[in-house]
Amino acid sequence: EKGGYDHFMLKEIHEQPDTIFDCLRGRLLAQSGQIMMSGVENHLDAFINAPRIIIVACGTSWHAGLVAEYLIEELCRIPVEVEYASEFRYRNPVVHKGDVIIAISQSGETADTLVALESAKENGAFIFGVVNAVGSSISRLSHAGAYTHSGPEIGVASTKAFTGQLAVLTMMALKIGFAKGTIDETRYQHLLVELEAVPEKVKEILKDTSAIERIAKKYKDASDFLFLGRGYNFPIALEGALKLKEISYIHAEGYPAAEMKHGPIALVDDQLPVVFVATKDSYYQKIVSNVQEIKARKGKVICVATAGDDVIPGMADDVMLVPDADEAIAPLLSVIPLQLLSYYVGLAKGLDVDKPRNLAKSVTVE
Ligand code: M6R
Repeated sequence: EKGGYDHFMLKEIHEQPDTIFDCLRGRLLAQSGQIMMSGVENHLDAFINAPRIIIVACGTSWHAGLVAEYLIEELCRIPVEVEYASEFRYRNPVVHKGDVIIAISQSGETADTLVALESAKENGAFIFGVVNAVGSSISRLSHAGAYTHSGPEIGVASTKAFTGQLAVLTMMALKIGFAKGTIDETRYQHLLVELEAVPEKVKEILKDTSAIERIAKKYKDASDFLFLGRGYNFPIALEGALKLKEISYIHAEGYPAAEMKHGPIALVDDQLPVVFVATKDSYYQKIVSNVQEIKARKGKVICVATAGDDVIPGMADDVMLVPDADEAIAPLLSVIPLQLLSYYVGLAKGLDVDKPRNLAKSVTVE
């Protein structure tokens, strides 16, 4: 049942070239420049005319929502708010008719998300579900939706469901932005091709994970980790920290890299591993300066970097490489080494990576 892998988590990480491919299949037609998503197509007006989009989710799905905020604001020019379902639910939020709510959930059964949607629906919002589990409560409650087609996810840590969510949300942003006229044709075409290339690039990352295993063993006894990123990679820093906490029980925090100097930099000493998600994008020079700031304080720097980068490897203590990609697509790649890092740290510590203590696969209590 684990397909020859020691754990479901590792199997599910390695399934990602296939699950992302399945998610894109029949939807992304790069050749003809089309995206076929009937749930979006049938409600295109609702999206195009939305005064704002509110994304509601928990945990890893909330991180996918943050990436979607960057995508939708850049490509569709619609203001986006990303809400923790539990907070959104209990504070009597302002929701108007015409507001579009995107609910993101692997299980489709998360109680906080479900209850948040019920009350938003009563207030006249249009609910769009990005869900993995077919026929689940959230998919039934939604007015429309798009499944992630990631297949059953057994490991408590969400991995392949997350990249499925990113793939769906990226296609949505592209489709809506193109229909709305807020994305120019060249960039649209370029991003379609870039998205289509993701499964092969993920395969490349997974071909040789020995460097990540070595890094995991080197840092497994650290008591804290900091994860930093900017732009599209900021939510990936949060996700890397969450994965490590869940699987290895090491305290970890994710931050936007520039926020570091507003507090967390006080934590840096020669014992602290700092993971930078530092791929080649429009923030690259800024991130290089942030790496220097950590090195100057003797922190241990581990970077997710773009293959071929000749600056970062000379500065960092350890590097995990990913293939080059447009920055809007990069999260689909840069998260993979972080999933593997947490897996191998948990493994090196002899922990139950598929069923971490105190956690349930779906949180059906509020
Ligand atoms: O099923 P959902 O996507 O609604 O679940 C949300 C969170 O409970 C979930 O992502 C959780 O944070 C995972 N354990 C993360 O790995």
